[in-house]
Amino acid sequence: MANLNPSLLLFLSLNLLHLFHTVFARGGERDSGFVDITYAASGRHLSEESHFQKLNKLAHGYMTNSDLEKAIKAFHGRCGRISRIYSIGKSVLGVPLWVLEISNNPGKEEAKPAFKFIGNVHGDEPVGRELLLLLSNWLCDNYMKDPLATLIVDNVHLHILPTMNPDGFSLRKRGNANNIDLNRDFPDQFFPMNDDLNERQPETKAIMRWLKEIHFTASASLHGGALVANYPWDGTDDRSKSYFACPDDETFKYMAKLYSGSHFNMSQSSEFEEGITNGAQWYPIYGGMQDWNYIFADCFELTLEISDNKWPPANELRMIWQHNKRSMLHLVASIVKSGVHGRIFSSDCGEPLPATVAIKDINYTIKASERLADYHRLLAPGQQYEVIATMAGYKTRTTTITMKEEAVTLDFILEPDTHFLPNQCSSKSKSKSKSKSSLKISELLPKSQLEVSLTLVVVLGFLFFLMKRKAIINHFKLRKSQQQRRVSAV
Ligand SMILES: *[C@@H]1O[C@H](CO)[C@@H](O)[C@H](O)[C@H]1NC(C)=O
Ligand SMILES: *[C@@H]1O[C@H](CO)[C@@H](O)[C@H](O)[C@H]1NC(C)=O
Ligand SMILES: [Zn+2]
Repeated sequence: MANLNPSLLLFLSLNLLHLFHTVFARGGERDSGFVDITYAASGRHLSEESHFQKLNKLAHGYMTNSDLEKAIKAFHGRCGRISRIYSIGKSVLGVPLWVLEISNNPGKEEAKPAFKFIGNVHGDEPVGRELLLLLSNWLCDNYMKDPLATLIVDNVHLHILPTMNPDGFSLRKRGNANNIDLNRDFPDQFFPMNDDLNERQPETKAIMRWLKEIHFTASASLHGGALVANYPWDGTDDRSKSYFACPDDETFKYMAKLYSGSHFNMSQSSEFEEGITNGAQWYPIYGGMQDWNYIFADCFELTLEISDNKWPPANELRMIWQHNKRSMLHLVASIVKSGVHGRIFSSDCGEPLPATVAIKDINYTIKASERLADYHRLLAPGQQYEVIATMAGYKTRTTTITMKEEAVTLDFILEPDTHFLPNQCSSKSKSKSKSKSSLKISELLPKSQLEVSLTLVVVLGFLFFLMKRKAIINHFKLRKSQQQRRVSAV
């Protein structure tokens, strides 16, 4: 595919456009949820071509894919102290899917929540990719100056994928280069529609791999064509168009309202009450990214429609950024400022336990992180909750909390269930060294190797001490980010 002549590709894709009616925001046909085939028969070739030319004109002032890559690298060059960049894979046409991570400890595994923004899921909805670069630069410029910027950089690992669909962007169309709508390409909870791994698009696979590596607490994908904050479920079990609440309906409404209420005028919508909507009530979709995040990745994702006009003239981008800025910042900050957070340890050896955290009467669980055992559970404020920590081999513990406007910190110390597993401490450390944990490196290395490593650490430390000059440090940073790029994430 990568060797195809671009104009041939363009010709092919314009023809393929016949098959799909692709002008709506989040979904296919807004009313039925299905592709309207009648459009295909009505001689749309010319109108598609002029549609393409129209978008091509509108693209003036937007970053091309290579401009975007340069902007991402320039951002990292300017703000390397609080960022790193890495790629999670490549598009069909081989464009790297760059992510920039913003944090005061980028790339380090810490007991902090992670948030992700994904822009340009649909190729012809390019506002998000521009806004995400504006957001990144704003955070860099305001770190240590603005309290919200500082809170985010210091307490969140914010990962930003400005474009998930660079090919669709350059082809000025919704789907990727294979003409697949990426927001229909994820496994679905109700219908076995995308279960063939070989059929799944590289962009989708990259996202799915990414979510296995990084444990995100919440996220948002940015779309255009409407002005509304959309929350799960996106689909219904019977394909009906009706409100379909997920177990965390209250929390999602809270998050969606936080976004719309902080926006310039999203909450004043005449179409959507308070500027928010349940996805299935608006129009059901299947194979969407949002529901998949919640079901399979412990991640609370919103789908944000941030401008009525999918492809507004570039001179409106600054205004749209201003309209969304507070919302974006508040949404990211909400994973620190609300919900219940803590770590889970065993009472005998004090080691972190990747336990399961549940809330009574909410049929949903999240897992504490594998190595540090921190958990971050978003919850709507104004209620009492019973928080339950469960781990095989330990006694379950339950604590009641009152969730007001602030976040609650709650650590758990779990006692071994002695009937279940005697001699907990030693058997635990053995199973640890079998896993890839590098926490107790001394247990993994024979003594002589350990001494060699220690010497190496001392020598390296001394070298670092000597190499104070910026150029050398930059060189090392570059090498470090290249190494990290290969493994893709923490
Ligand atoms: C929000 O403001 C924009 C820009 O002024 C306008 O185009 C849009 O119609 C407004 N939307 C609502 C829901 O008020
Ligand atoms: C909880 O959710 C699962 C699916 O995640 C479902 O199979 C189960 O029936 C639900 N349980 C209750 C009590 O609703
Ligand atoms: Zn969209």
